[in-house]
Amino acid sequence: MAEPKSYGAGDLADIHTPLLYDYWYVAALGSEITRELKERTILNHSLVMYRDEEDKVVILQNRCAHRSFPLDQSTLEDGGIRCRYHGIKYNHDGEITDVPCQDSCPRSGIKKYITKEIGPMVWIWMGEAEAANEADIPELPVHDMGKWTHVVGDYNYLKGNYILMQENLCDLSHLPYLHAETFKFPKEYTAATIKVEQTGDQVTFYRELEDWNLLKPFFHPGLDFGNQQVIYRSGGEYVTPATNKGYGLLYPVDENGAEQAPVGHYVSHYVTPESEGTCHYFWYVARNYALDDKDYSKKQGDMVQQGFNEDLVAINLLQDMLEKDQHDYREITIKADKPGAIMRRIIKRLASHN
Ligand code: FES
Ligand SMILES: [Fe+2]
Repeated sequence: MAEPKSYGAGDLADIHTPLLYDYWYVAALGSEITRELKERTILNHSLVMYRDEEDKVVILQNRCAHRSFPLDQSTLEDGGIRCRYHGIKYNHDGEITDVPCQDSCPRSGIKKYITKEIGPMVWIWMGEAEAANEADIPELPVHDMGKWTHVVGDYNYLKGNYILMQENLCDLSHLPYLHAETFKFPKEYTAATIKVEQTGDQVTFYRELEDWNLLKPFFHPGLDFGNQQVIYRSGGEYVTPATNKGYGLLYPVDENGAEQAPVGHYVSHYVTPESEGTCHYFWYVARNYALDDKDYSKKQGDMVQQGFNEDLVAINLLQDMLEKDQHDYREITIKADKPGAIMRRIIKRLASHN
């Protein structure tokens, strides 16, 4: 049988590119991890998550060392998990502390993962423990949670390879089409040139419009700059295989033509592969104005989630097509694909060093 053909050109990562382990990924929203055992598969590893008695996040390999019974289907007791099959007990480090039918406890060999909770997200290091460095966790756009208003999205499950999602997040050209109903971008936005820059293994990209009034529906109705010129700039940054940051910012211009500090929104995206064909997706929006308007936060959150639902459906359709229709073909590339193409080239190279 002929080899299935990739959807991309040879040097671009695609749905067949091996997953990357040496990165920090978002494992869960902090609010998802409680005193109940919860399973989540990340990079084809089944994990069990919970909080210990001191509210610290614990993530262990979800597999009893005795006969592979899933620990998430077991019992969380004080001090750790007791396997529901033959009663072996594990502490929060994954070490065996009790074997009911014998006095001695063998070494368990089940893995405890390195995690870090920051703001609304719980990060996990999926590579070798010696290589973990918290300084490599990509910075959230706004670490100062008190100064900005945040809308944290619910957990999303995506039936598609993570590269498809990362490419979507690097792609400004789908916004006026796939999201025509939700976002209603003006035609001037569609026509604006996309500027792209690669710095090391990161890619930044944006578009701008000289007249922010065209984008007024994206901002709080109370926002008013009078007659001052305001530049609208929207874009994003591919940061790591696990993260992407978007923004829509307004830059008022003073009488000397200098841009002032922006007003607007950042959107942080976290994409965590479950397997080669599925991923987990988390997001939050931060804004630096209308900080106390809770109704607006709700409206903004609903609009963003509606947009992401459109992306999730589209990506699922792409994944389906790529899996079922494997005749000879090669996708064309248009100018607007540049940020995504650079991202895919970076990931392809990273995967080849794996
Ligand atoms: S499978 Fe867990 S104790 Fe036997
Ligand atoms: Fe989208």
